[in-house]
This record gives sequence, C-alpha cells and structure tokens, in this order.
Amino acid sequence: ALSRSEAEASPATCDGTIDSNYAGFSGTGFCNGDNAIGAAAQFVVNATGAGSVTLSVRFANGTTARPADVVVNGLKVQSATFESTGAWSTWSSKTVAVPLNAGSNTVRFNPTTASGLPNIDYLDM
Ligand code: GCU
Ligand code: CA
Repeated sequence: ALSRSEAEASPATCDGTIDSNYAGFSGTGFCNGDNAIGAAAQFVVNATGAGSVTLSVRFANGTTARPADVVVNGLKVQSATFESTGAWSTWSSKTVAVPLNAGSNTVRFNPTTASGLPNIDYLDM
C-alpha cells in the first residue's frame, strides 16, 4: 500500500515555512523552503527490507529548474532536477530510486543553488 509522508507533518522537516497559499496541495500545506543552498526538506520512510525503492515526490515550481541532491541516511545517492511546472499552483510528481535500509530511513532533498527547492508537497513510497 502507498505510504504518504506529508512535508508539513512531523517527522518530516522543512527548512523554511509551511505554506498553504497555492491550491492543489495534499494535507494541510506544503514546504516552502528558504531560497538558499542546503535549505532542505527531509522525510522519514520505513522499509520492510533493504533494497532499492522508487519514491515519488510532489512539487511545484513557478520558476526555472532547481537542482537538489537526494541524500539518504546522510549519504548523497543522486542528483535530481525539479523542472519548472509553469506555476506555483501547478503540481507535478517526480520519481527517484533510492537505496533504503530495513527500518527507518531519512530521505533529504538538499538544494544545491541559492534558489533553494521548489515547493514540496509530499513523498510517496
Ligand atoms: C514565491 C512563491 C513561493 C516560492 C518562492 C520561491 O515567493 O510564492 O511559494 O517558494 O517564490 O521562489 O521559492
Ligand atoms: Ca521557496
């Protein structure tokens, strides 16, 4: 079954504000990260066993593409580019395949430019 982690709900963390001023988000809001390198959104996901899992992150980006490192349990596993969705109220999902340990894992989207992250709604596993 799908497990959804909302960016606005603990244990997820957001280096910015939880906003709700653009329609179409899930839950009660979304993470508006600070426009800065390293202003991250972090999720906690639980895996029944170790192995690669495809996660889906939902985001909106009203500007140009914003790159981020995908950091799992403190290790960078890949880079992701959050392309423009055309408007802050237009949400899109992007998949990332990541290696997980059995049990609890942190999955962190760490922006690598001063633009920061797009607005982040949730992570599905
Ligand atoms: C605008 C928008 C925010 C967004 C920000 C950004 O201020 O209202 O939701 O996070 O741009 O550029 O990151
Ligand atoms: Ca922002």
